Amino acid sequence: MRRKIVAGNWKMNKTLPESVALAKDLKAVLAGQCLCGVEVVVAPVFTNIYPVAEELKGTGVAVAAQNIHQKTSGAYTGEVSAPIAKSAGASKVILGHSERRQYFGEDDALLATKVDAALAEGLEVIFCIGEVLEERKANKHFDVVESQVKNALFHLPASAWQNIVLAYEPVWAIGTGETASPEQAEEIHAHIRKVVADKYGKEVADEVSILYGGSCNPKNAKEIFAKPNVDGGLIGGASLKAEDFKAVIDGFKA
Ligand code: PGA
Repeated sequence: MRRKIVAGNWKMNKTLPESVALAKDLKAVLAGQCLCGVEVVVAPVFTNIYPVAEELKGTGVAVAAQNIHQKTSGAYTGEVSAPIAKSAGASKVILGHSERRQYFGEDDALLATKVDAALAEGLEVIFCIGEVLEERKANKHFDVVESQVKNALFHLPASAWQNIVLAYEPVWAIGTGETASPEQAEEIHAHIRKVVADKYGKEVADEVSILYGGSCNPKNAKEIFAKPNVDGGLIGGASLKAEDFKAVIDGFKA
């Protein structure tokens, strides 16, 4: 069954005590609440994965890393591998975020190797795709996301897709306060699902969760999540306050 997921990408925010405090707040606001089948994920910075995972033990909230290196270990100063992130408490990893692509030069070929490294370690991958504003204006957004999916993920066998979640994040909507309309999100999510179906078949494609990201917040989440091909959200700014994040999760409630 296709899963509903709301993941908070904390990016390079929150010191260690602040991360633990946010995890505690999240635990408090979610206590006794029905998540009603929605999987909740948070992605703190590497150094805070362990304390946040400890704090959230038993709550059902999963912890993700925001990146990993493609090698398992070795002389790669400053990097963190999949086994290391996993040993700290991460069960998932966000890969291909536009900020990694833009500021750290990560391209689809590199990302394909990171995907392999994550899956080999049993980490679920939340794989981000999305076009920049110029590409949307030139009506190239369908082609852009299609090539991102193909280049980074189409080497995988069908069985690997059980551990792949896609996140469509139009770059022009990230942190800008501008959101794709629910119709724009639905249209491109449906296209992404078709791209997967054309390669792997309808059954695999129907099972893949496709999240929307980009200024998703308590005000707009409900309308976006209501679209049939939108299976949740990857949330930046609105995940940094427990109440706001909970309100986004509640976007799934009738
Ligand atoms: P935003 O970030 O919600 O702050 O726009 C989303 C993301 O980059 O994942």
